Amino acid sequence: MDYAIILAAGKGTRMHMSKAKGMIPILGKPMIEYILDVLFKSSLKRIICVLGNQYSDFNLPSCVDIVLQREQLGTADAVKTALPRLKDTDGDILILPGDAPFITSKTIEDFIHFHKSNDNLLTLGTIRLDSPFGYGRVVREQNQIVRIVEEKDASEEEKRIDEVYSGFMCVNTKILINSIPQVDNLNAQKEYYLTDLVEIISKIGKVSSYEIKDCFEAKGINDLYSLSLVEQELQKRILKKHMLNGVYIENANTVTIGPDVSFLGEAMIYSGTKVLGHSTIYSKVVLGPNTEIKNAVVYDNAKISHSVVLDSCIGKESTIGPFAHIRNNSYIGEANRIGNFVEFKNTTTGYKTYASHLSYVGDTNCGSGVNFGCGTITVNYDGKKKYTTTIGDNVFIGCNSNLIAPIQIGSNSYIAAGSTIVDDLYDGDFAIARSPQTTKTSYAEKYNYKRVDKN
Ligand code: UD1
Ligand code: CA
Repeated sequence: MDYAIILAAGKGTRMHMSKAKGMIPILGKPMIEYILDVLFKSSLKRIICVLGNQYSDFNLPSCVDIVLQREQLGTADAVKTALPRLKDTDGDILILPGDAPFITSKTIEDFIHFHKSNDNLLTLGTIRLDSPFGYGRVVREQNQIVRIVEEKDASEEEKRIDEVYSGFMCVNTKILINSIPQVDNLNAQKEYYLTDLVEIISKIGKVSSYEIKDCFEAKGINDLYSLSLVEQELQKRILKKHMLNGVYIENANTVTIGPDVSFLGEAMIYSGTKVLGHSTIYSKVVLGPNTEIKNAVVYDNAKISHSVVLDSCIGKESTIGPFAHIRNNSYIGEANRIGNFVEFKNTTTGYKTYASHLSYVGDTNCGSGVNFGCGTITVNYDGKKKYTTTIGDNVFIGCNSNLIAPIQIGSNSYIAAGSTIVDDLYDGDFAIARSPQTTKTSYAEKYNYKRVDKN
């Protein structure tokens, strides 16, 4: 049985952040999730993740076996803490660094295939770098790999080696179990280096390398500057892929598109827009300028500008914004118009429903053809609990109305402006709930309001 072991217990000292390195987001997605997504797509079904003292920062799926490395004594020690979790000793183990998130499932499959088909005891994933600083250098004698030397232990000559260890290795399980106890910490950093396995195993059997051609896939992230550089590169690749499929992107360096966003057709994205999470954008959608979308589905021909849409769906032909906020499992139907300073939360609407200005609509199930007048509020919270509002079809809600939930408003009913509605309305009812106006002739002077003299 083959296993994957992810090493993510390191202190991440060079990041200078309190958050665990694996949970730091790249284009909105935590580093560790990139690695897990790739493993879930691979043939490796058993995944062990080694976490350190910041383990509570992580929220990993239950299928991942978590082990704790209490003291960060080095990468070999991290692997050692995972060994008791192996249920059998047949097969191979893929070891992955928790800080190289861009490896692809294809590379992983090819790598494992190469390791197995060559009957290697150990295969190192290697890359060639113009500036190999910080990486373990692969030392060869008569072309055979004999050891890896870490940056801090390398001689000047060794530092010039451009073939480096990527952090990915595939190793026979039995051999790993026998070899790990032989690793010592007699080196510049007083750490147990996993890379010392190379020297140990090369003495008893076949060690070879698999070159990862696209170095980007194996780039290790050790500080916030290297994180920023790889994020820019990843973003360039993602934007290019979408552009080549008909997504117009204005002023591309101001636009952010996450790795799990799908465009199902052509689209127009304007400056300052972010599309993140698991979002799906159907055809002929217009997003932006200055719009943030996360975990959303936006159907054909919808337009969203200067707005925020989170965990929600926007129906075909609907127009959102400017300055709207749609969130928390809202399902906006087809051809709706949600305009300036309108917030929809956990709300469903039917066809052609409008809320054009200044409204809060929360925990509401609303039909088709409803008009929320300017300033309408569904009053869903009494300070302790949240309540639901139900609105039928073709309801007219006059400006500045409060609907005090829980409440049901029947279809074809009509609410006069300025009403605070506390009782349910049946289909076709008219309701007005405001105090009658008092007008006192020529009484205004008493209040002596300053007047503008036009001359
Ligand atoms: C490591 C390799 C280096 C390689 C580079 C590739 C070693 C000794 N060196 O160096 O040869 O070129 O990766 O990116 O392996 N970790 C633990 N427990 C620990 C220490 C580290 O889980 O006690 C984890 C870290 O969280 C990290 C990974 O192991 O995800 C690698 O550790 P890091 O300190 O980043 O090693 P590098 O110096 O980058
Ligand atoms: Ca690293």
